[in-house]
Amino acid sequence: MLRSKIAGIGYYVPERVVTNDDLAKVMDTSDKWIQERTGIKERRHGVRFEETTSTMGTKAARIAIERAGIEPKDVDFIVFATLSPDYYFPGSGVLLQRQLGIPGIGALDVRNQCSGFIYALSVADQFVKTGMYKNVLVVGAELHSFGLDYSTKGRNVTAIFGDGAGAVVLQAAAEGEDKGILSTHLHADGNHAEQLAMINFGSHSGVHLGKERFGFNEDAQYGELMMSDKMWEEKDIYPEMNGQYVFKYAVTKFPEVIMEALKANGRELSDLDMLIPHQANLRISQFVQKRLRLRDDQVFNNIQKYGNTTAASIPIALCEAYEKGKVKEGDLVCLAAFGSGFTWGSALIKW
Ligand code: COA
Repeated sequence: MLRSKIAGIGYYVPERVVTNDDLAKVMDTSDKWIQERTGIKERRHGVRFEETTSTMGTKAARIAIERAGIEPKDVDFIVFATLSPDYYFPGSGVLLQRQLGIPGIGALDVRNQCSGFIYALSVADQFVKTGMYKNVLVVGAELHSFGLDYSTKGRNVTAIFGDGAGAVVLQAAAEGEDKGILSTHLHADGNHAEQLAMINFGSHSGVHLGKERFGFNEDAQYGELMMSDKMWEEKDIYPEMNGQYVFKYAVTKFPEVIMEALKANGRELSDLDMLIPHQANLRISQFVQKRLRLRDDQVFNNIQKYGNTTAASIPIALCEAYEKGKVKEGDLVCLAAFGSGFTWGSALIKW
C-alpha cells in the first residue's frame, strides 16, 4: 500500500482585519471579554460582494499546487470542506474546479464543520494510498462573515468566527520515503447535533416551524414553512451554539483523539514535535496542552489573529507553522479537530 504525503500547502486570508473593538461598535461586547474567553484579538472578513468561499479556496489552492511543483491540470481529484458554501447547492468543489480551469475531474464536498479538513484529508488519503489518484487537492475554506448575527443576540458566535482558506496537495510518497500521513481517525456523535448548528433553512424548518410556530396547517405552502417573517424578526436564521456544552466535550475529545493517533502508531506524547489543534478557542487549546502536559513549542496556535475559521483553521495553522519553520522535515505532527455534529478526528503525519 502506498503512503500519501503533503507535497504542497498554502493559505489565504482576506485583507480586511476586524478587531474586537470593531465588533463592540455594533454589539454589546468588549475586547477584554473576547480576549479573556477566547484569546481572539482580531479576525479577517472577506471583501464584501467580491470574495466567496470558493474564491478564497482557489487562492489557497494555487499556492499549494505551485509548492507541490505541479500545475492545476495535474490535479486528479478535489475534496472541498466547508460549512459556508457559495451556494446551497452545488457545492464549492465544482466552483473551485471551474476557477482552476480543470473541468472533468471529480469534486467532492465535505460537510463536517470544524472537523471538515481532517475528514477531507482522510478521504483524500484513501484515494492516494490505493493508487486511484496521484494528486488530490484538499481544501478547507469558510466565509463566515456574511452569515453571522451582528446584533448582541449573536455575540457568542459572531465574536469567534472568521474567514479564510487553506489547501494541501496530497501525493503518494516515493518508495522508501519516510514521510506522509501515518493514520487518520474520524468520529462523530449526532446526539449533540443541535448544540452547535445552523438549523434553518434545512428541510427541518418545515417540520419544526410548521408544527410549533404556525400550527399544523395542511394547506400551508411549503415555501411559507421554510422561511417566515417571524424567523427573520426573531433572528432564527443564524448559527447557534451552546458554548459551555461545546467547550466541555471539546476538552475531552481533543486529548482522546490525539492519544488514539499516537497509540495507533506506537508513539508517545514526548515523540510529538507539533500539535496543530483546530483553532476553536485558545482556552480549549490551552486546556488540551495542559492536560497532555505538552510544552509551548509542541503546540501551534494562531486563533489570536484569525478567529475560528472552521474547516480552514487547520490548514491555515499548519501552513503558517511550516512557513515559520516550526514544522520541519522529519517532524511528527498531529492535527486534531472537534466541532459541530459533534464530529472529531485526528491525523498523524511524518512531515
Ligand atoms: N461579549 C460579551 N458577553 C458575551 C459574549 C460576547 N462576545 N458572548 C457571550 N456573552 C455573555 C453571555 O450572553 C452571558 O451573559 P449572561 O450571563 O448575561 O447571560 C455570559 O457572557 C456568559 O455566557 P457563556 O456562554 O456562559 O460564556 P462562556 O464563558 O461559556 O464563554 C464562549 C462563551 C462561547 C466563549 C465559550 O463557551 C466557548 O468558547 N465555548 C466553546 C466554543 C467553541 O469553541 N466553539 C467552536 C467549536 S468548534
